Amino acid sequence: MSDNKASMTAGGKTIEMPVSSGTIGPDVIDIRKLYAQTGMFTYDPGFTSTASCDSAITYIDGDEGVLLHRGYPIGQLAEHSSFMEVSYLLLNGELPSSQELADFSRTITRHTMLHEQLATFYRGFRRDAHPMAIMCGVVGALSAFYHDSTDIADPTHRKISSHRLIAKMPTIAAMAYKYSVGQPFVYPDNKLSYTGNFLKMTFGVPAEEYEVIPAVEKAMDRIFTLHADHEQNASTSTVRLAGSSGANPFACIAAGIACLWGPAHGGANEAALNMLKEIGTPDRIQHYIDRAKDKNDPFRLMGFGHRVYKNYDPRATVMQSTVREVFAALNVQDPLFETALRLEEIALSDPYFAEKKLFPNVDFYSGIILSAIGFPTTMFTVLFALARTVGWVAQWNEMISDPGQKIGRPRQLYTGPTSRDYVPLSER
Ligand code: CMC
Repeated sequence: MSDNKASMTAGGKTIEMPVSSGTIGPDVIDIRKLYAQTGMFTYDPGFTSTASCDSAITYIDGDEGVLLHRGYPIGQLAEHSSFMEVSYLLLNGELPSSQELADFSRTITRHTMLHEQLATFYRGFRRDAHPMAIMCGVVGALSAFYHDSTDIADPTHRKISSHRLIAKMPTIAAMAYKYSVGQPFVYPDNKLSYTGNFLKMTFGVPAEEYEVIPAVEKAMDRIFTLHADHEQNASTSTVRLAGSSGANPFACIAAGIACLWGPAHGGANEAALNMLKEIGTPDRIQHYIDRAKDKNDPFRLMGFGHRVYKNYDPRATVMQSTVREVFAALNVQDPLFETALRLEEIALSDPYFAEKKLFPNVDFYSGIILSAIGFPTTMFTVLFALARTVGWVAQWNEMISDPGQKIGRPRQLYTGPTSRDYVPLSER
């Protein structure tokens, strides 16, 4: 809090509102008494100027292209840390000691199995169901299986359900994939790392030994790290809003998954690779750039632009170098990478993209890596959901632990008919 105040004249009154400062980032005008004092609301569809909460987890400076988790830059975490360590950091606020990391990893590992009855639940879906549809259903259903951890007022319940969600998400995601390709589900193998285990459950088959390729495991773990949290984005805000009513954590995370699915959010990685496939060769890029600039064409460059970043998304930088590492490890090439690099180059030198500050985001290169590893495009957003679960859970816990927490309930500018009398059917 600072002693600053902002004054405003509204509804014929001049009022003063407190201004609060965070540790970094823009100050906020506290408008909570605005309605009581003036009878007016603020109007901000899409929340372009509204801070919906205070949070000590993640900070983004979109103009500078900075992303910090608990103060640590994403580039350093991606290079030196691991997804398990970043998960601990997001949940607990500090990097773990080696003992704390070992204990945390063991706890998560102990929760990787799913209730066996859930396998039957999968069999109710069509084989061609989108795996995100399966994720929404199965994660929502977890509350029907793990009712012993749904008392949100109990910190121990919150901790257990958080660990369960982080631990079970790879199993749920891998099973969604296995179901779609008609292969048997592969049980978790607790000898493996979080990420190695996920790769085995996804690509292993009971008929053969599965060998985790260390370079692929490292790249996948880094991709999870890059997606772990991103402050108050649409799906995280959805989780917070769902959680604000007191809904159980499994239901809240299912709501987050549903929101993430959209192509403007987590669905963009699938859409970006589909777009690159449609463009195909570099000679066709200009046509798509022209379409993206055409106001009468709904086409947008997928994997480009961001509500907050008005500079290069720092996650995209790491993604781009990871593409090269994965190609080298697997000894593959994908001509779509050349197309993507050229598309980025052409877009960044075009005044339309420069003026609107549209840069590649995390989703622009991730699809190329995931495809090289062997994932079908329909799994891309599932992987995003898997990794983002820790961010959702950390933000949900932060909200529930806040003694001042209230149900989220936005107001509106009503534009419908004013009060009128019901007209009987015979007179219409
Ligand atoms: N291609 C072409 N034009 C674009 C694009 C794009 N990808 N993104 C924004 N614009 C234009 C848009 O038409 C608008 O122009 P004008 O001011 O003339 O009307 C201007 O830039 C501002 O766009 P906006 O839609 O008002 O901006 P926003 O902050 O509401 O949207 C966005 C952000 C990410 C939804 C948008 O940039 C977009 O649709 N990008 C493509 C989808 C995508 O890659 N999403 C992944 C985001 S990163 C992963 C995640 O966090 O989920």
